[in-house]
Amino acid sequence: MIDFSAYKAAIFDLDGVITDTAPFHFKAWKKLADELGIRFTEEDNEQLKGVDRMESLERLLALGEHRYSDEEKQAMAADKNAYYQQLIEQLTAEDILPGVMPLLDQLAKNSVKLAIASASRNARTILNGLQLTDRFDYIADPTYARSKPAPDIFLYAAYGVKVHPTQCIAFEDSIAGLQAIKDCSMFAVSVGHDDLRRYSDAHVHRLDELLT
Ligand code: BG6
Ligand code: MG
Repeated sequence: MIDFSAYKAAIFDLDGVITDTAPFHFKAWKKLADELGIRFTEEDNEQLKGVDRMESLERLLALGEHRYSDEEKQAMAADKNAYYQQLIEQLTAEDILPGVMPLLDQLAKNSVKLAIASASRNARTILNGLQLTDRFDYIADPTYARSKPAPDIFLYAAYGVKVHPTQCIAFEDSIAGLQAIKDCSMFAVSVGHDDLRRYSDAHVHRLDELLT
């Protein structure tokens, strides 16, 4: 149980914390990998959580033997994203992970500001699909931030809601993201796999566990 009165802002990663987009990312990366003759498994996909699009592509290509030009890589990333965007069109409010809404309600009731710190350039589209855009006071744009584990996107979100990082609690499902949170002295809550515990200050499997 966390005393929310200690925090003035709550900052959320999106993919894997608010909704589970990993299967869509997997499907889209797998399509590209198949086209290139690269073996790509769900385990490989796990390593891409929290990692931005171009770095994810680099990691996928490193599983194969060919090397590609920057132009080719840009085209591959654009193709993957076009397919991913088709897949996430189907997202609705029903795809919000269990436990998210009760926590958002409780935080809002305590006048805690809510912000999103996602590596995804599709964050706004996803939030619109989930019908959650209006619930957040600020959505940090990853275009202007170095990729996690750099702390930029979390600092940017804190700046957006005008709260000092030490008064923020932040939620993540990736190691890179948890490192980013700790690096800017926020209270880090890991969500999901138990092996994330050692990177965080508190751990939950679903967000409403913090309310009990
Ligand atoms: C992160 C996901 O939230 O966003 C990563 O965990 C993804 O898997 C990254 O690569 C970038 O997403 P997008 O939508 O900009 O390609
Ligand atoms: Mg995530």
